[in-house]
Amino acid sequence: MKFFIDTANLAQIREANDLGILDGVTTNPSLMAKEGVKGNDAIMNHYKTICEIVDGDISAEVFSTDFDGIVAEGKKLHAIHKNIVVKVPMIKDGVKAIKWFTDNGIKTNCTLVFSAGQAILAAKAGAAYVSPFIGRIDDSGWDGVELIAQIANIYSIQGFKTEILAASIRSALHIIKCAEAGADVCTCPLDSILGLLKHPLTDIGLAKFLEDAKKM
Ligand code: G3P
Repeated sequence: MKFFIDTANLAQIREANDLGILDGVTTNPSLMAKEGVKGNDAIMNHYKTICEIVDGDISAEVFSTDFDGIVAEGKKLHAIHKNIVVKVPMIKDGVKAIKWFTDNGIKTNCTLVFSAGQAILAAKAGAAYVSPFIGRIDDSGWDGVELIAQIANIYSIQGFKTEILAASIRSALHIIKCAEAGADVCTCPLDSILGLLKHPLTDIGLAKFLEDAKKM
C-alpha cells in the first residue's frame, strides 16, 4: 500500500518525506486555503514546490464544474510538472472530463466518492485513482472502511485498474483497516501516519534497553 500525505502544508510534507515512506501528496481547495495560498500564480507555485519536495504523484484539484472548464484547468495543472495528477469531482461533467484526460494520457484522481456506484463510474472513465472519503462516511453513520472493501472486491472481480485511494483518514486505525480492506493508497494527515509509530510497550522496552546499555 502506498502512503500519500493529505495536506498542502510544506513543513508537514517535508517531515513525512524525510521519513522515507512517502509516495505522494493529495491537496484540495480547503487544504490550500488553510495554508493561505491565494491567486493563480501562488497556487501554481505551491504545486511546483510540492513537486520539487516529493518524487511521486501530486493531486491538484480543479475548481471548475463544467466539462470545458475542468479540461482547461486540468491541462494547466498538468503542465506544471509531470507528476501532477488532476483531481476531478465525481459529477457528470467530471466523469466526462476524466475520460477525456484518460484518452489524452493525463492521470486523474476522482474525488468526493461516497458509493460503490460512483467508484464503478470513475473506473470506467479510466481514473488512475478513486478517492472514497471514509472519515466523512463514518461521520454520517455509515462505515467508510466497508466501502473500501466493497470497491476492492468489485475492482478485483471486474479487473479494473483504477487504484483505490482511501481519503478523509482520521486515525492510525483507519490506515490499518484500509490496508486490510484492500486500499492501494492511504492519503493521511501527518498525525495519523505518526500514530502508526506509537505503542507503549515499545517505549517501555526501549527505556529498559537504554538503562541496561549503561551497564554494558
Ligand atoms: O483530500 C480529501 C480528503 O482527504 C478530505 O478529508 O478530513 O476533510 O474529510 P477530510
